Amino acid sequence: MGQMIPDLAATSRASITKIKPNGIPNGINTAGKKCQHDPTFTQKVIAATGPNANPRLAQIFPSLVRHLHDFAREVNLTVGEWSAAVDFVWLPRLPNPTLSLTPPPPPPQLNDCGKMSSDRRNETQLLCDILGLESLVDEITSKQLATSTTQTPSAILGPFYRSDAPFLPNGTSIVQGLSPSVSWYEKALEDSAFLSGKVLSTDGKPIENAVVDVWHTAPNGLYEQQDSDQPEMNFRGRFRTDQQGRYALYALRPVPYPIPDDGPAGRLLGLLDRHPNRPGHIHFIVSAEGHRALTTQLYDSRDRWVDDDAVFAVKDELVVRFEPREGDPGARWELGYDFILGRC
Ligand code: BEZ
Ligand code: FE
Repeated sequence: MGQMIPDLAATSRASITKIKPNGIPNGINTAGKKCQHDPTFTQKVIAATGPNANPRLAQIFPSLVRHLHDFAREVNLTVGEWSAAVDFVWLPRLPNPTLSLTPPPPPPQLNDCGKMSSDRRNETQLLCDILGLESLVDEITSKQLATSTTQTPSAILGPFYRSDAPFLPNGTSIVQGLSPSVSWYEKALEDSAFLSGKVLSTDGKPIENAVVDVWHTAPNGLYEQQDSDQPEMNFRGRFRTDQQGRYALYALRPVPYPIPDDGPAGRLLGLLDRHPNRPGHIHFIVSAEGHRALTTQLYDSRDRWVDDDAVFAVKDELVVRFEPREGDPGARWELGYDFILGRC
């Protein structure tokens, strides 16, 4: 068996950039067709497997990922279609009506992912994330819909979005419940950050009344719906741009966190000898009339995991540098970032 898993053992995370997918030239997918997407992406997902992965899984996983990704590229699988499939897998397994009805079929059973899922957690989506599938369908979909090369790249939505975050006045904070009694109080003060910028159209014109929907974790790495100690809707808010297309808000410099790894997705990570960490990031959905809504994330350039995201969502254009902020008691860091939306 040891002899049957050669290339994976030799494939370290550090050598990703030098690897060509099993001798197939970059830019060509494994079906031999010219590839219009990032030609290194599939190999990056394969190469994340560690040297102590389960041997059989290490042997078959590269093939699974190659076929899965080729399938998604071949049919131009969109986020909407992938999402419908995730919902399908998440539902209870129904008895097969073609099987004998004597004895009667067992009651519907939840599969392992179903058992681990709730309205606050979608294990099937997590599985897709560690397979790189959510990132891949996001790239496919955004390329299909793109009307300009200058628009801000998208990134995955992830499972922790809530669509009903409060609308807040420009210049206010999404941080709630900050008091010395909270375990992450000091860290929140250290990481306090002022975020500002414009929402622009691809022709460079500012967009008034665009909505910037923003969310991130607390300094303990948990989103508010994962953490009963946080107030409802903590670290979430929606802001409207002013006449010059400007938005501004107080938030925190984001921290890295592990994706939930106490279920089947975590078991798979363990078998693959992979870590569960995401680099610190802030999520955004930026929308405006006449424009395609942009779902994206910004990543802290100084984060330990920025080159090794467990769900493969980082894109170079979305890596940002927070700078020290002077003379503002509300923030120690600042970040300026303009979002560019494509027209629809
Ligand atoms: C997130 O960024 O919130 C996320 C994305 C994929 C899996 C888990 C969490
Ligand atoms: Fe996140």
